[in-house]
Amino acid sequence: MTIKTVSTQPIQGQKPGTSGLRKKVRVFQQTHYLENFVQSIFDALEGYQGQTLVLGGDGRYYNREALQIILKMAAANGFGKVLIGRGGLFSAPAASCVIRKYKAFGGVLLSASHNPGGPNEDFGIKYNISAGGPAPEQVTNAIFERSQHIDRYLIVDAPDVNLDSLGESQVGDMKVNVIDPVKDYAELMEHLFDFDRLSALLAGNFSMRFDAMNAITGPYARAILEERLGAPPGTVMRGTPLPDFGGAHPDPNLVHAHDLVELLDGPNAPDFGAASDGDGDRNMILGRHFFVTPSDSLAVLAANAHLVPGYHRGLNGVARSMPTSQAVDRVAEVQGIPCYETPTGWKFFGNLLDAKRITLCGEESFGTGSDHVREKDGLWAVLFWLNVLAKRGESVEEIVRAHWARFGRNYYTRHDYEAIDSEKAQGLIDALRDRLGELPGQTLGTYTVDWADDFSYTDPVDNSVSSHQGIRVVFKGGARVVYRLSGTGTEGATLRVYIERHEPDPQQHGQDPQTALQELISIARDLAQIEGRTGRAEPDVIT
Ligand code: G1P
Ligand code: ZN
Repeated sequence: MTIKTVSTQPIQGQKPGTSGLRKKVRVFQQTHYLENFVQSIFDALEGYQGQTLVLGGDGRYYNREALQIILKMAAANGFGKVLIGRGGLFSAPAASCVIRKYKAFGGVLLSASHNPGGPNEDFGIKYNISAGGPAPEQVTNAIFERSQHIDRYLIVDAPDVNLDSLGESQVGDMKVNVIDPVKDYAELMEHLFDFDRLSALLAGNFSMRFDAMNAITGPYARAILEERLGAPPGTVMRGTPLPDFGGAHPDPNLVHAHDLVELLDGPNAPDFGAASDGDGDRNMILGRHFFVTPSDSLAVLAANAHLVPGYHRGLNGVARSMPTSQAVDRVAEVQGIPCYETPTGWKFFGNLLDAKRITLCGEESFGTGSDHVREKDGLWAVLFWLNVLAKRGESVEEIVRAHWARFGRNYYTRHDYEAIDSEKAQGLIDALRDRLGELPGQTLGTYTVDWADDFSYTDPVDNSVSSHQGIRVVFKGGARVVYRLSGTGTEGATLRVYIERHEPDPQQHGQDPQTALQELISIARDLAQIEGRTGRAEPDVIT
C-alpha cells in the first residue's frame, strides 16, 4: 500500500456545529478542504488502528466523490475495515444501528440533514462515536483544534471502490464491505414493534402516506412499509433518493412537505401521514386534517409507550431539548420517571441513553428517538405511531385530544428570523443576557417575569458543562419565551424564538396556537427589540 503524505495548511472556519460541519458544496470542493477536515477527525481520535469504520451518506450531491476520498484516507490512516451502505447510502439512524451492531470504532456520515442539496446547495460531514451517536463536544472541539494546526493528510493511491454491488473489496490494506443499508435497521424495527399488528392495520381500511422527500428514507420506507408490512405500493411518496432532492427542501414540516399536507387536508384524506428529512432522522406526524407538533408527539409516545413491545416494560426516563415544549414533563411527572432538559442538539442525549437514565427523547425540531440507536429516528417514530394507532384503534386526532384532556395542552410555537446579520443577532442575545438580572418581577402585559437565565447544562453523567445555550424568560405560572441562535444555518445568523404556555382547561384546547399565544408573542418581540435590532418586523418561518 502506497501512502501519500500531502502537505496542507489550516483552513479557517472548520468549526463543527451541533450536527457536524455544514457548508456549501463548493466550499467542500476547495482544494484540501474535505481532506483537512477528515484528517482532523482521524487525528483527534485514538486507537482506531485495524478497527472498523462505518461510512455512508444521505445520497446528496458530492456524496459519492467524498466517500471515495474518505475511503482512501481511512485506509492510509490505518483503519482495518469499512462498512459502507450500497450506493454510499445510510440514513443517520441506520448508520447508528450498524455502528452499534457491528461494534465499529465509529462512523463518518455525510449529510446536511434537512438542508437542500445540489451543486449550489449544502453538504456536511459528521463523526459518530462507537456508541453510535454524534461525537460529544470534547471530540468536536478536538477535531476543530486539530483543523487549526493541520499540516498534512494521508491518502492512498488506489482505484475507486464500486459502491453499487454488495460484497467485499480492498483499498490498500483496508477491507471494504458494501452492505445492504436497510437490512440491519429493518431487523431492529421488527424487534421493537408489533409487525403482525401493523400488517393487519395496513391490510384493513386504514390508509397512510409517507413522504420520503426524494431523500434517504425512500428505500427504508418502501422496504418496511410496502414490502414487509404490505402497505399498498404508492404509500411511499417521493421514494427515490436524488442528489438534489428533486430541487425540494427535504425538511418534513408544513411548508416543505406541502403535497403531503394537502393530501391530509383534502377531501379523501388518508388516516395518517408522515414525512422524514434528508438524512432520515426527523419526522412529521399528521392525522386526517390534523398536525401533531413534535413536542406533543414526544409526549404522546411517552404516554403510550407501554402499548409497544419494545417499550412495554415502561420508560427509565425521558429527555427533551430545553426549547422543546414541556408537554413531556407532565407525562414524566404522572409516570414518576425523571425528565431531563438538555441543550439543543441530539448529542446531548447520548450520555443519558448510555447510562440508561432515559428511554425516549426528543426535540421540537421534528426529532424523536429512543435508546434503540443514538440518533433521532424518523421512520422509527412513524412505526411507533402506527403501533399506538393499531393498539388504540382511535384516530390521531382522538389520541392527541385525549392526551390534552388528561395532561393539559402546551400551546407552543417557534418563530425563526433567518439570514440576519450575525453581529446584530449576537448583539440582540448579548443585550438580553445583560438584562437578565433586572427582569424578574417585571410585569409585561398580563405576565410577570418569574426568573430569567442563560441556560447552562451540566451533564449528569460526565459533569461536562455547556453554557450559553439560550436565554430563558419564564413567567409566573410557567409560560416562557426562549431565545437562541441556530447552530446549523449556513448563511448569516438565524434567531429562533420559542414561545409556550400551558392550558389546563379542555374548553380552551381548540385554539390556533398563534392566537392562543398572541400576547406572549408580542411580549417576546418587544423584550428583545427584534425589529429595532434586526430590521425584521415578522419572522420568516413560523412553526
Ligand atoms: C436545529 C434544531 C435542533 C437540531 C439540529 C439538527 O439546530 O433546532 O433541534 O438538533 O437542527 O437537526 P439549530 O439550527 O436550532 O441549532
Ligand atoms: Zn436530519
